[in-house]
Amino acid sequence: MIAHRPLGRTGPQASAFGLGCMGMSPMVYGPTDRAESIATLHQALDAGINLLDTGDFYGMGHNELLIAEALKGRRREDVLLSVKFGAQRDPAGGWIGFDGRPAAVKTALAYSLQRLGTDYIDVYRPARLDPNVPIEDTIGAIADLVKAGFVRHIGLSEVGSDTIRRAAKVHPIADLQIEYSLISRGIEDDILTTCRALGVAVTAYGVLSRGLISGRWTKSSAGASDFRSMSPRFQDGNVDQNLKLVEALRAVANRLGVTVAQVAIAWVASRGDDIFPLIGARKRGQLAESLSALDVRLSGADLAAIEKAVPKGAASGGRYADAQLAHLDSERKPAA
Ligand SMILES: NC(=O)c1ccc[n+]([C@@H]2O[C@H](COP(=O)([O-])OP(=O)(O)OC[C@H]3O[C@@H](n4cnc5c(N)ncnc54)[C@H](OP(=O)(O)O)[C@@H]3O)[C@@H](O)[C@H]2O)c1
Repeated sequence: MIAHRPLGRTGPQASAFGLGCMGMSPMVYGPTDRAESIATLHQALDAGINLLDTGDFYGMGHNELLIAEALKGRRREDVLLSVKFGAQRDPAGGWIGFDGRPAAVKTALAYSLQRLGTDYIDVYRPARLDPNVPIEDTIGAIADLVKAGFVRHIGLSEVGSDTIRRAAKVHPIADLQIEYSLISRGIEDDILTTCRALGVAVTAYGVLSRGLISGRWTKSSAGASDFRSMSPRFQDGNVDQNLKLVEALRAVANRLGVTVAQVAIAWVASRGDDIFPLIGARKRGQLAESLSALDVRLSGADLAAIEKAVPKGAASGGRYADAQLAHLDSERKPAA
């Protein structure tokens, strides 16, 4: 069974890996398979993964309803539901802003509880900073929900050091959810230090950079209505350079007798006990492969070989398109 440890200084006992469920809803990574998604969720729970990550806007409620179905017959206390809110979407799936106003926070929570079929959320977090609402107000509203028993812990997502510090003054923060992988190492410059100083864990997403560094992605895998069709790293002009990095990583993985995905996941897991990789598996085979990465022990020489194959900053293209990057408080330079 997978090990559990505290999610930050004040958070719950969480499994060393979380399961990120976003890709199980349509419009993210191409076609989805409901039965396979539920089987993957069951496999994760049976392996001792208790941390399930979702967002109310993943498939506009679809993801939460899927998780609720998968949890039927399971004990609620065996699961940690991590839910993001605040992203506003139109009926066509377009992204139309963020809402962190206190009334919106409480309304969003009420709907999530209903869809998830539960009376509390374990970790509730704004998906992005609402630039029109002070973070103190948004976190203050969640703190009210903690007091009322509807939320157990508060998390953050894609915010920078200043915002983390301000939020932590209002209420203890269990974890920051943020992209972290061999080819997205921005948090090492400043944010990780802030998290560590405040006892905030990191739930790392994009560990396989949306499949790009899974070792299985090829240019022919590209789907038309997929996140990857808009992601700079998958575009002509960047993707060939990025796939060269994957081949360099494959040489290291071959030497270690593991897969490219396993070495990429093991590298993130090796960054510290306060880092909880969110595995974006949507199929049982992917999850099994990812779980085996827990058994990969990387020596100092292995880590050096990995970083030589994929040096920091070597990726071609940003981790999001410019319009989406503009919403990332985490990408703003910290105040001097
Ligand atoms: N806070 C935020 O802003 C934010 C943003 C994004 C995601 N997240 C959370 O983080 C979770 C994980 O993020 P992510 O989807 O970006 O994760 P990821 O692991 O980088 O990418 C997921 C994709 O990689 C492929 N994959 C996964 N496991 C694999 C394996 N073992 N071998 C080969 N390919 C594999 C799958 O693609 P195919 O199935 O298409 O092959 C999968 O859809 C999400 O589900 C979500 O809960 C949070």
